[in-house]
Amino acid sequence: MDNVTLHFSNHSLLCYNLPMTADELREKYISFFVSKGHVQIQGKSLLPDNDPTVLFTTAGMHPLVPYLLGEEHPAGNRLVNYQKCIRTGDIDSVGDTSHLTFFEMLGNWSLGDYFKEGAIEMSLEFLTSPEWLGIPFEKLGVTVFKGEGEVPRDDESAQVWKRLGIPENRIAYLPREDNWWGPAGSTGPCGPDSEMFYYVGDAPCGPDCKPGCSCGKWLEIWNDVFMQYNKNAEGAYEPLARKCVDTGMGIERTVTILNGKQSVYDTVIFEPIIRAIEAACSCRYGEDSEKDRSIRIIADHVRSASFILGDPKAVSPSNVGAGYVLRRLIRRAVRHGRKLTHGAAEWENGLFLSPIASVIVDQLKGPYPELEENRAFIIGDLDREEAKFLETLQKGEHEFEKLLPNLLKDPRRIMSGRLAFKLYDTYGFPIELTEELAREQGMQVNRGEFDEAFKKHQELSRLQSGQVFKGGLGDQGEMAVAYHTATHLLHKALRMILGEHVAQKGSNITAERMRFDFSHGAPMTPEEIKQAEDIVNEQIRRDLPVRMEVMSIDEAKAAGAIALFGEKYESKVKVYTIGNSPTDFFSKEVCGGPHLERTGGMGKFKIRKEQSSSAGVRRIRAVLE
Ligand code: ALA
Repeated sequence: MDNVTLHFSNHSLLCYNLPMTADELREKYISFFVSKGHVQIQGKSLLPDNDPTVLFTTAGMHPLVPYLLGEEHPAGNRLVNYQKCIRTGDIDSVGDTSHLTFFEMLGNWSLGDYFKEGAIEMSLEFLTSPEWLGIPFEKLGVTVFKGEGEVPRDDESAQVWKRLGIPENRIAYLPREDNWWGPAGSTGPCGPDSEMFYYVGDAPCGPDCKPGCSCGKWLEIWNDVFMQYNKNAEGAYEPLARKCVDTGMGIERTVTILNGKQSVYDTVIFEPIIRAIEAACSCRYGEDSEKDRSIRIIADHVRSASFILGDPKAVSPSNVGAGYVLRRLIRRAVRHGRKLTHGAAEWENGLFLSPIASVIVDQLKGPYPELEENRAFIIGDLDREEAKFLETLQKGEHEFEKLLPNLLKDPRRIMSGRLAFKLYDTYGFPIELTEELAREQGMQVNRGEFDEAFKKHQELSRLQSGQVFKGGLGDQGEMAVAYHTATHLLHKALRMILGEHVAQKGSNITAERMRFDFSHGAPMTPEEIKQAEDIVNEQIRRDLPVRMEVMSIDEAKAAGAIALFGEKYESKVKVYTIGNSPTDFFSKEVCGGPHLERTGGMGKFKIRKEQSSSAGVRRIRAVLE
């Protein structure tokens, strides 16, 4: 391909009769790499296991880190898949024409097999071959690592690109901040990368126009990472014994260019979602820039929320971690829905998020069957959170408007963090939402002051409950404690109904709901579920006292207490007994607490869902109504 004359034309990619869909791109990518000896592996959960450094899976390589660091993968050394991802770093930029929080990533991996040359050859073949994507060469540009410290400029990659037909003037050498990839956490496999860009304008702005050019018309579509190092906990780069390739192609962006569009929101991916929003909010996309921004925020946020709720390891909206991000996404979407309709009262169909989520489930249930399996859960949680937020929103917005005249008097246009905290504390207003309301009035929130007030509040509630807990039981509000006591009732009920083999495998509690994992080999029948609810509700009705005693683990076992199998215990443990006396009790468990003093008044126990969690482990999601 030495003599390819590169010229720019107005060639848009309308070589297809119909615009390429995400399904077609996914299918083509997998087929191409399978034809090159790769094995397709499953994408993983959006909520990563055993990784406290990130809340969500942010890239296809994320679940593969152990293999990139040297573990053998059971499927071999050439892998390919598609992976659902969420990145929330740019959440505030969502609303413009390009940012997304949820996206799908296509990826291929070499675990000690091919390296730079092989990866680049395959990337370019897939992009340009008429059999695959058929993108004209003249639309492409690439970047390679410029070199820094002990890592030299990546001339090897540049040579391969040139040999394959990308001219020197379409190759940009960029520094570490552009052409180096490491995982979201601070440690792990990393290395220089080479990125592929598509020019979305008609003609580059000048002879030096290449990726990174200030014209901003180069859209990144694919990244080949050459994993050569492991960044260790001390921050040092250890060379990897086995070099790997990790690549990531964004489906939404690639479909954008294949659809001949400049914005992801103008593609076949978002079209049905935007139609659903137009129907729900009686508005039209493309008529008013402020409204368009709201429509894009709703489209993106409902997609993310649907995928978080539709995940096998779903979390529900809460005030911590991934649950908090979910809450923020839902609440921000609701607020923009209200902006579009000038208030909930005008919504024709009541709650508006779940009909939009239904469209998303329909659209993506093929590649992500978990969305269909969890449809009822997605809809239920969205409706609940929306209804709940609408109540507080009205109060909060009203309150903000009342504050506004005073706020606007401040010539520095700074809203105090104390006030922002009051909105959070009293009206459940996420700080980010207050910041957005403030921004819309040309103001800024004093975030440092807010964070301080927030921390103080957390410490206070900890002191009030008299105990400091590490780990999962961070939330000791009244509801979280009630849920904790409910897990003991449920644990015992399940052992009565299903048998003594039932052992708790994990639990996850927020102020809104509980999740309880337990060992059991088969799905529960509707009758068993009903029985479990009845037994738990019976104990709530009996208003049993809950008592705590400290004893040795042997004494606890002798007294008939359930202890967690495989758990290491201190010399003295706390035993919680729920029942009328030390010998006449319903449940006795070794547990750190805290618990309610009595079972009465905790509400009505309802199992929302019973599903598989992993092999031999079932998961119950339940609420106290
Ligand atoms: N892990 C690389 C990325 O996400 C491929 O860009």
